[in-house]
Amino acid sequence: WPGFAPDIDAILRLKRERDAVILAHNYQTPEIFHGVADITGDSLALAREATRVEAPVILLCGVHFMAETAKLLNPAKTVLIPDSAAGCSLADSITPSDVRLLRQRYPGVPVVTYVNTSAAVKAESDICCTSGNAVKVVESLGVPRVIFIPDGYLAANVAAQTKVGIIAWQGACEVHERFTPGDIRQLRDAHPGVVVLVHPECPPEVVAEADFAGSTAAMSDYVANERPGRVVLVTECSMSDNVAVQFPEIDFIRPCNLCPHMKRITLPKIRRALETMTEAVVLDPAVTDRARLAVERMLAVR
Ligand code: 13P
Ligand code: SF4
Repeated sequence: WPGFAPDIDAILRLKRERDAVILAHNYQTPEIFHGVADITGDSLALAREATRVEAPVILLCGVHFMAETAKLLNPAKTVLIPDSAAGCSLADSITPSDVRLLRQRYPGVPVVTYVNTSAAVKAESDICCTSGNAVKVVESLGVPRVIFIPDGYLAANVAAQTKVGIIAWQGACEVHERFTPGDIRQLRDAHPGVVVLVHPECPPEVVAEADFAGSTAAMSDYVANERPGRVVLVTECSMSDNVAVQFPEIDFIRPCNLCPHMKRITLPKIRRALETMTEAVVLDPAVTDRARLAVERMLAVR
């Protein structure tokens, strides 16, 4: 990554000086993902890996809820995020009082909360899930019905794979809600033989047109294992960029949508975060223990 070399060199040096580990989500740009990250993955992998980090400092390259999750699992460590304004339309779609109202409306029905939420919302929940384990988590509870928040499309896609009744909140990911079934049909017409992988935050009609739906890690694994000649990853743009670096022989077709929140994280901001040791994630003590429990219950589901 020649143009990025000065920042990358400085970050690699600062990482050693600060004894810091960089965790990066699959939607981070390639110079971050391949250039400076120690650990990469989907939301579930980043949460699991956060429990294994031994270094005293974690720098999370991703959006704020991911950094909060890392801090929940590592209360004694310093968890930095290069830009704390990196939000998420799903996390913004629901508040703790919304969850309390849902509980009043559906007494006794457990609340399954997608990790794309604030710690305060997690604290009102029984258990968390990611797109990588949502069906397993819902079924682990052994109940006839669950409240599933906040992604309405993920909820519908989970409902299609289980007999458990799903009461859904209607939040949406601003990146994935924009894909349409017509987009997929056009892609197939324009690129014969293309294998279509979609993220389950897409509307169910889009998932229905795909060859495979799965988390960002599941998409990577699909490409690595199946080695399609031509593939489209219907998701955030950096996903294809990162996977394509590893499989130059595969033809990646790229209509994609950028996540403006993920794109707030840049090499200069990572460098500054390590130079100044800001911005450190601080959790509200009133929600920390309950939020951690919901995440730990998820991690215990195998
Ligand atoms: P994954 O857990 O699949 O990485 O998804 C996170 C996300 O924010 C998708 O938009
Ligand atoms: Fe949130 Fe969607 Fe961005 Fe993922 S891609 S962080 S769900 S807005």
